[in-house]
Amino acid sequence: MQVVLTASSAESARLVAQEILDALASKPDLVLGLATGSTPVPVYARLREAAARGEADFSRVTTFNLDEYIGLPVEHPRSYHSFMREHLFEGLRVAADRTAFPPTAGADLPARCAEFEERIRACGGIDLQLLGLGRNGHIGFNEPGSPLDSRTRTVQLCERTLEDNARFFESGEDQPRRAVTMGIATILDARRILLQAAGPAKAHAVRSAVEGPVTETLPASALRRHADTTFYLDPGAARDLTPSERVPAH
Ligand code: GLP
Repeated sequence: MQVVLTASSAESARLVAQEILDALASKPDLVLGLATGSTPVPVYARLREAAARGEADFSRVTTFNLDEYIGLPVEHPRSYHSFMREHLFEGLRVAADRTAFPPTAGADLPARCAEFEERIRACGGIDLQLLGLGRNGHIGFNEPGSPLDSRTRTVQLCERTLEDNARFFESGEDQPRRAVTMGIATILDARRILLQAAGPAKAHAVRSAVEGPVTETLPASALRRHADTTFYLDPGAARDLTPSERVPAH
């Protein structure tokens, strides 16, 4: 695991976006794993801008999102489908059949989750996976206690995660308590992983992931088992790291 300390979350976004654009330039049919939450929004804005300037062509890219809520129709404004449409897919004009999400409705969800995994494999696996980080160390919706060998499945969200994500819902609006997420093992199958974290609220999770033991109680610590993962951290998120873990951005 490499840790890159940036000057700001905006600089992290610039570096992550540039890495995606470089990967796309060398592999036009790139397979991207995508995250939601507020952290990747500026990265997605940069990708849209590059596409609008004609500097990047996403028409052959395939995407797999990490997670989706159970109980929200895909067209609901708070669904991760809607989030991705608004922040990325419409601007890039990615065809809907090249964007996949974990299944959240219909009969026999476990079988459909297995099909989602199979679809990733059939595309040759994820080249580049973007991740955010929950305050409790979750990645995707793999909450503390998620098995390191977990695959795409239904999960129950923790109270802390529900509190953190309540800001995306209107008061009185029903906030889903369950989701389907790629598993830890699904994420670790990606060839390269970029995790972005910003702000002091993430500092404890960052330090535990980077310096603590690999443990199911801190899902992001599993990334230490991955051969090619970089954490992009702003000063707030890196606040609690011991200085030797820090590598300045270049
Ligand atoms: C949600 C998503 C995670 C994301 C997290 C962090 O819980 N399921 O994939 O990493 O939010 O969100 P933010 O970037 O808003 O801090």
